[in-house]
Amino acid sequence: MSSQPKPHILFSKGEIETTVKRLAAEIKKDYQGKHPLLIGILKGSFMFMADLIRLLDFPLEVEFIRLSSYGQGRETSGKVKVVQGLRTEVKGRDILVIEDIVDTGLTISFLLDYLWKRKPDSLKLCALTDKPSRRQVPVTIDYLGFIVPNKFIVGYGIDWDEKFRNLPDICVLEVKD
Ligand code: IMP
Ligand code: MG
Repeated sequence: MSSQPKPHILFSKGEIETTVKRLAAEIKKDYQGKHPLLIGILKGSFMFMADLIRLLDFPLEVEFIRLSSYGQGRETSGKVKVVQGLRTEVKGRDILVIEDIVDTGLTISFLLDYLWKRKPDSLKLCALTDKPSRRQVPVTIDYLGFIVPNKFIVGYGIDWDEKFRNLPDICVLEVKD
């Protein structure tokens, strides 16, 4: 019988705060005077998005998109679908996508293609975490928070089976048998 998986801190609340400040400073430098549209991918990016935009002291807009990928368990199949779309025009806008984790890269590649087809002026990606060891398709991350090992992570908005999103730290989930 396997017991409930236990989260162990990988990046603490304090480390996250420092990193979000660094990302905000990088973004501020590039987007001053541009009025970008930030698109958060639900649900994992909600906490990161909330902290990040409070540090961006220039006009911007916020949108969310919800994607689903048909896969087995923890694996992404690559067949991604938009289940809750955008209500804001992308054409001619400076778009900054906010993602929680880039793993195989299949989800974000799908979304970036989907957005490019809508003719934005610019399109960039800000990801809280990156698991490069798992990449299946190349992805350029313009603003990156943390590189994570090939482990399952939770917390700070990121879930395992909808659980652990409320943890204030980014944690590794240890599954003990
Ligand atoms: P990709 O398409 O394989 O890059 O998967 C990206 C999505 O899978 C992320 O946005 C997460 O929702 C989910 N994901 C990938 N790795 C993890 C993880 O370690 N913990 C929680 N969710 C993950
Ligand atoms: Mg996600």
